[in-house]
Amino acid sequence: MTSPEVAPEIVRFYAETVDEADRLSTTADGRLELLRTQELLRRHLPQPPAQVLDVGGGPGAHARWLVADGYAVHLVDPIARHLDKAEKTGATVELGDARALTAADASCDVVLVLGPLYHLLDRGDRDQALAEAYRVLKPGGLLAAAGINRYASLFEHTAFAHLHKEPMQRSIGGILATQIHDGKKAFTAAFFHSGEQLRDEVAAAGFAQTEVFGVEGPAWSMLAAAERNTGQSFRDTDLFQSALTAARMAEPYPELLAASSHLLAIGRRPG
Ligand SMILES: C[S@@+](CC[C@H](N)C(=O)[O-])C[C@H]1O[C@@H](n2cnc3c(N)ncnc32)[C@H](O)[C@@H]1O
Repeated sequence: MTSPEVAPEIVRFYAETVDEADRLSTTADGRLELLRTQELLRRHLPQPPAQVLDVGGGPGAHARWLVADGYAVHLVDPIARHLDKAEKTGATVELGDARALTAADASCDVVLVLGPLYHLLDRGDRDQALAEAYRVLKPGGLLAAAGINRYASLFEHTAFAHLHKEPMQRSIGGILATQIHDGKKAFTAAFFHSGEQLRDEVAAAGFAQTEVFGVEGPAWSMLAAAERNTGQSFRDTDLFQSALTAARMAEPYPELLAASSHLLAIGRRPG
């Protein structure tokens, strides 16, 4: 099989346009994503030590705390600059693609796919990434796969107080209708899931006990807007604590899934 190729615009975006290493630590909504992803994962992970394959692990924001918690983490990502940073977390690293993993069949206790699914626009590519996660997981092993919520841009650009401007309305309307971010500004071309779609894709790959969680809850865009409007950090504020509490309180209510910026699917390879 020839290796799948990551779109050049994705390589350019992460190699030149943004520094992904800062995303979860510098902004309040990034910190909310990190803390909530961490607490959702910790609730489902097996006891350490266990083998975690972090697919699309970027510069290692999750690898860092997983290694500190006692897990053996192997991180796969297509961007060399990410691997240079990820190596420093204590994880082993490999240049690679979610659709063609080199790990042996049934060799991992946990597979994280926190990024590749929204970068894969075609359903066939996302199916292939999930099939690879399934193949390398041991029976009974845990999958955690992230999606970006279809409605996230609507909330974000409302909070940024410019949604009523015509070009913005057209652009966000396009995302709502097609679920495709066109990649012209701020991010690469990407596919944005509904919670139900993410659950269905993970279940269709053969995973059992599939559940989808809202990561940031309903107030992340308020945090992002507060930082943008004031130029100040909101990471250590009552608004941050309130948003974190809201995310936890929203969790049991499926209707509120759509309020989060990220969706986290949890499933198991049947034992
Ligand atoms: C927004 S970052 C998320 C990084 C990290 N997993 C996190 O949750 O903070 C998305 C990551 O997916 C990676 N990625 C994009 N396409 C991929 C593919 N086809 N296979 C594996 N990783 C991919 C990118 O290089 C990037 O590191």
